[in-house]
Amino acid sequence: AVELSLRPRYLAEYIGQSKAKENLKIYIEAAKLRKEALDHVLLYGPPGLGKTTLSNIIANELGVNLRTTSGPAIERPGDLAALLTNLQEGDVLFIDEIHRLHRTVEEVLYPAMEDFALDIMIGKGPSARSVRLDLPPFTLIGATTRAGLLSAPLRDRFGVVSRLEFYTVDELAFIVSRAAEILEVSIVGEAASEIAMRSRGTPRIANRLLKRVRDFAQVRGDGIITHDIAQSALSLLQVDPQGLDDIDHKMLRAMMVTFSGRPVGLDTIAATIGEESQTIEDVYEPYLMQIGFLQRTPRGRIATESAYQHLGLPLPTDR
Ligand code: ADE
Repeated sequence: AVELSLRPRYLAEYIGQSKAKENLKIYIEAAKLRKEALDHVLLYGPPGLGKTTLSNIIANELGVNLRTTSGPAIERPGDLAALLTNLQEGDVLFIDEIHRLHRTVEEVLYPAMEDFALDIMIGKGPSARSVRLDLPPFTLIGATTRAGLLSAPLRDRFGVVSRLEFYTVDELAFIVSRAAEILEVSIVGEAASEIAMRSRGTPRIANRLLKRVRDFAQVRGDGIITHDIAQSALSLLQVDPQGLDDIDHKMLRAMMVTFSGRPVGLDTIAATIGEESQTIEDVYEPYLMQIGFLQRTPRGRIATESAYQHLGLPLPTDR
């Protein structure tokens, strides 16, 4: 229950993402004024930035029900039809990882999104025909780590497309302080900032680190999260001062040492460190690029000078 309540329930409690937030606020208000369903919303961006939280908030602000599912969970067109026919007018259907919808399921979604209709095939062969079933107007919220993974026809059917950005350290410090209050643990400002700096711009990571640091404070200290406790807990958790973990370090070292600083392809890096290419591309690279440690060039990925400095490795002379 605490896990759930760490998440803000209304836009006014939601910290950061000011652009997405301001826009959504207007669209929600307009939809309510017109007593219409909100246009379909696509939320995209790296994991942990609040796509699920935002869709909960949208449903709350609209005062409608939220149904949650994910792309891979909808195996057949009938599964989606069952979900759609159970919606009430104005409800929100949230599909996480919407880029992983099966093609056959996706095709059912097009008329549902566009005309609030379900086309059902009856019979087979020459006597087959389709019957159109009306659906209540609803809002589809799709979430994906990368909008580029979506098929064009699906992407085009979203009236609102919102990219979530990494949070600033100040925003994360605020989120950590708010979460500490909900968890009923005292934290000093420097400790909240320390956790914020090591959270890779990501609230989900910030809240996870806060809980681990809290364990430390309760077992090793007197329950108060001081700057000292935060620092020692975080180094034991192997998150470095920039929030980089073991996998970031392995990636950067592979690029700098194994491949001597020459441009390397994503799959080569993945194979070298034994990680999934998709995970590297969705989770690790976006943050390394954001902090200017990694660049994508037409010939492959390269680590930047700041990355070499951060790891204390000499720049290659001949790349
Ligand atoms: N907890 C997780 N994400 C949050 C956010 N964006 N604002 C407030 N609390 C949060």
